[in-house]
Amino acid sequence: MTDLPQPTPAPAKPRSGAQPAAPGPSPLPPVGDRFFRQLVESMRNGVLAITRDGRVVAMNEVAYRVFNIEPSPGDIGAPYTDVLHDQPDVVRILGTAFELQNLPNRAELRLKTSGKVIGYTLSHVRDDAGEVIGASLFFKDLTLVEQLEERERLRDRLATLGEMAAAIAHEVKNPLAGIEVMAGLLRRRLPDSPEAQGLINDIIAEAKVANAIVLEVLDFVRPIRLQVERTSIPQVLHDAVTTAERKASRGGVSITLNVQEQLPLIQADHHQLVQVFSNLILNALEALNGTGTIAITAVRGEGYVEPSAESRRPAPATVVVEVADTGPGVSPEILDRVFNPFFTTKPQGSGLGLAIVRKIVDAHNGHIDFTSTVGQGTRFRVTLPLEAGEGWLQ
Ligand SMILES: Nc1ncnc2c1ncn2[C@@H]1O[C@H](COP(=O)(O)OP(=O)(O)O)[C@@H](O)[C@H]1O
Ligand SMILES: [Mg+2]
Repeated sequence: MTDLPQPTPAPAKPRSGAQPAAPGPSPLPPVGDRFFRQLVESMRNGVLAITRDGRVVAMNEVAYRVFNIEPSPGDIGAPYTDVLHDQPDVVRILGTAFELQNLPNRAELRLKTSGKVIGYTLSHVRDDAGEVIGASLFFKDLTLVEQLEERERLRDRLATLGEMAAAIAHEVKNPLAGIEVMAGLLRRRLPDSPEAQGLINDIIAEAKVANAIVLEVLDFVRPIRLQVERTSIPQVLHDAVTTAERKASRGGVSITLNVQEQLPLIQADHHQLVQVFSNLILNALEALNGTGTIAITAVRGEGYVEPSAESRRPAPATVVVEVADTGPGVSPEILDRVFNPFFTTKPQGSGLGLAIVRKIVDAHNGHIDFTSTVGQGTRFRVTLPLEAGEGWLQ
């Protein structure tokens, strides 16, 4: 160890007032109640404070925004159970504030109403005598952090799993092609046996299904390389409808395509976007099973504003495409799993369609979400940035 010179202790400064002659900092102007209100209001975290008898003392703008509540002048002083009526999870947490000895610190909560995740700390407010006179909730919207972590995890998983899956898929592809070809040869040799013909047709059909799954796996694990070009969304959607119809028959389903006039071209990979929308249309066709409608719309959008309390940047211009069907909807218990690789509810599904969709949308710095009502239908919304600032008009 080297000997460091000991710092000489600075002479203790006399507290202000001791030596009136010395030039010190100018005295602090009186800080009133208003200052503390502004302090809470301008915080970039959510702040909510209640009194011991359960009334709201403070609730800042971020808190209103994260909880999705319209501010109303009567909120301050009103029972928190009324103001937070639509956020039962938060009401529950605040309700424990005066019962628990050890209050939660850095805990996390998923708001059931919006799916947002908040990280929060609950504290007591005490008076000079140490009596608990209220409680405060201090929190931050972690949704974006969670999404980023999720993407990161998916990428890690794919790096190792992907290589293996790609290798296996490659190996399986050739024998499958062999089975198909040889079954075809056999079929020609047995023209007089309808029973054998039937069986062979089944073999060929099954081999085709297996092959389609293998191709999807390869698609999914392949790292994305975008061939970015000026891309016309109407052209993409047109090609996507054709592609989807090659894979599933339309039957009695009507498909409408509504594109806003003068939709700008975007910087994107045409083929990959065709895959995105053909997968969504294919899912809609499969959900409809021959009857109903699929409405596809494309409009210019204000952009996807990231759900972070801090980002106040103007949203970039985007194109928003929606694919809405009148099918049976997605049941609530699987809502958060439909994008998972290999999650499927279909007997012959690969469960990779939406995982691939998400991967491609992510690669375009876009965003995808959906809403679904059981018995009424499902609406997927894809938001894609124009990327090159204003884009080009067609
Ligand atoms: N439009 C839709 N309507 C109802 N359910 C859907 C729709 N799109 C997707 N799903 C659900 O999401 C699951 C996953 O879809 P996907 O990833 O495309 O895989 P797959 O189509 O192979 O099942 C489907 O099995 C289905 O349960
Ligand atoms: Mg699918």
